[in-house]
Amino acid sequence: MTETDDLLAAALAVRERAYAPYSKFAVGAAIRTASGAIYTGCNVENASYPEGCCAETSAIAAMVAAGERDIAEVVVCAESEEPVTPCGGCRQRLAEFGRADTVVRAAGPRGERARWTLGDLLPAAFSLGDGE
Ligand code: THU
Repeated sequence: MTETDDLLAAALAVRERAYAPYSKFAVGAAIRTASGAIYTGCNVENASYPEGCCAETSAIAAMVAAGERDIAEVVVCAESEEPVTPCGGCRQRLAEFGRADTVVRAAGPRGERARWTLGDLLPAAFSLGDGE
């Protein structure tokens, strides 16, 4: 199994832990950092709907909490008619730690369905220039 497949497997596995009783839409996300480590997250919903958290945001939080900040590749896994892309807010959060050429892959239970770069998904991303 390649490193890339490992990332997909991690996204699929964490999706099983999604807490999505309101939308019933389970999402898993896996991030590989420049060091090669993998961080995962799932969506965690709340009875107060806007307080729910996306899978990508959970994975970013796990990465930062582990002391890493350099996103090399992302896999988002969900089951839907069209491949699922990160929402607008998550694109901005990914852009904080990724680059325009960072690959974002969409997968379903049967494997990869599409891939983009972060630059495709969020052209002209907001940034504070020198800020980190
Ligand atoms: N969701 C994610 O976790 N990631 C995405 O990229 C799209 C949407 C979640 C948020 C909410 O829990 C559910 O999917 C339905 O929108």
